[in-house]
Amino acid sequence: MTTIFGHRRPLLSPSILNADFSRLGEIVRELEEAGADAIHLDVMDGRFVPNISFGLPVVTALRHVTTLPLDVHLMIVEPERYVTAFAEAGAAAITVHVEASVHLHRTVQMIRELGVLAGVAVNPATPLAAIEEILPFVDLVLVMTVDPGFGGQSLIPAALRKLEKLRALVDQSGLPCLLSVDGGVKLSNVATVVRAGADIVVTGSALFHSGQTPGQELRRFRDTMQQAFSG
Ligand code: DX5
Ligand code: ZN
Repeated sequence: MTTIFGHRRPLLSPSILNADFSRLGEIVRELEEAGADAIHLDVMDGRFVPNISFGLPVVTALRHVTTLPLDVHLMIVEPERYVTAFAEAGAAAITVHVEASVHLHRTVQMIRELGVLAGVAVNPATPLAAIEEILPFVDLVLVMTVDPGFGGQSLIPAALRKLEKLRALVDQSGLPCLLSVDGGVKLSNVATVVRAGADIVVTGSALFHSGQTPGQELRRFRDTMQQAFSG
């Protein structure tokens, strides 16, 4: 958890993947005003995942419309080729997939040397053993609770069991890395996600398909998360 104003609380990092891109700047400002802690940006290359989203120009553009940290999730092969460019574009955190970077230790060191938080993401089918050795070198772990590539999928419960195990491992070893959860998080399951040990919750389509404005829905997420954390 992160301490802000003396209270430990889980953070909310909305993904704009399912937003109306013709109004992106406006939506990001609305999310900021509603209390988002960061903006999650899903970069997809059509190779690591079967979908193409957006890249550097969107990060650069959003850097000028918000003061929130830009939390960049690279779903691309050979992410080491692009981390410098994303840092220069204004990313505050860059997360690469353990499945996508052969020399992961070098990649996360590179990210940290750029003055950016380094994250490692783990797909639902990837065991925790694959990230155990890198944990002391990263600032955050992104536990994927869907197979990456698309917004609007259903959360895979087995991935939450993995989060619980990782929470215990990180707490026992006293490592400072934050645990982030991404995929299928909705108002109806966010309390379970927080109780399973998430420090950072990523949510996308739930904010944009609720019948409320994204800002109103984000406030409901915040309240539910805070209750789950304190209750
Ligand atoms: C999935 C992305 C997620 C996703 C979140 O590949 O990494 O960030 O867009 O969207 P929802 O909340 O709709 O699963
Ligand atoms: Zn993501």
